[in-house]
Amino acid sequence: MSQHEQEDMRSQLDEATERRVHHSVPGYSDHGPLHHHTPLHPSDEGYPAEVLAKMQADAADLISRYPQKRSALLPLLHLVQSIDGYITGRGVQFCAEQLDLSTAEVSGVATFYTQYKRHPNGEYTVGVCTNTLCAVMGGDQIFDEVSDHLGIGHDETTEDGSITLERVECNAACDYAPVVMVNWEFFDDQTPDSTKKLVDDLRDGKDVVPTRGASKVCSFKQVSRVLAGFTDGRADEGVGAGPASLEGVKVAAKNGWTAPAAPTTSDDEGAEK
Ligand code: FES
Repeated sequence: MSQHEQEDMRSQLDEATERRVHHSVPGYSDHGPLHHHTPLHPSDEGYPAEVLAKMQADAADLISRYPQKRSALLPLLHLVQSIDGYITGRGVQFCAEQLDLSTAEVSGVATFYTQYKRHPNGEYTVGVCTNTLCAVMGGDQIFDEVSDHLGIGHDETTEDGSITLERVECNAACDYAPVVMVNWEFFDDQTPDSTKKLVDDLRDGKDVVPTRGASKVCSFKQVSRVLAGFTDGRADEGVGAGPASLEGVKVAAKNGWTAPAAPTTSDDEGAEK
């Protein structure tokens, strides 16, 4: 490698390092200040007695569904988010007490999954899929334009507390790419303009209807309660699999294709005896 090439490479490395350092500075982002992360530690301020009593009753219900109480941790964390809007210190303490776990064990789980928020979440989580198929179909463009429109970046929330914007890695709806989700409801075949209108409507308090599934979008806290395991009776609303999802089934039916039988394993044979 020539001296010139070495200098060139060193300069590129310096630039990359500088970018990494810059982006790791707390409070820095391309689109304004990041959240002030709420530390996960026991909070001195507990729940009001009435709220706590209801949470304890709900927790007992959830725990009774599992052979081991610690298995109810994920639902309980959603339950905390349905009350607090994110995983608070008092929420961690609550889960630990209900499940006979340490707060460190609860925090370890809460910080592992991206669905558990470490800072106050907006009323609506707007997840723009920027995984491969959606990205090439315009997902990156959608994210960039909506990010500029709202003035926030990934995992940031608008000042009015209405929208938290996220990049999402595949919504399992690639046949409708590019796809955006609002509190886990589908908005198919989006464009930058349609998504900007979507977030404006949400902020204006208008009724927003997903392109498939439920007849309206619920708030983050309402959805968190459903994710905890308390149904709202709306699971079967609307169309589940739309025309694009069924295209392969139609082609298979037309050609008489069927799935091959699953191979029999020694476990199956043992079970039959
Ligand atoms: S890549 Fe976007 S839904 Fe699968």
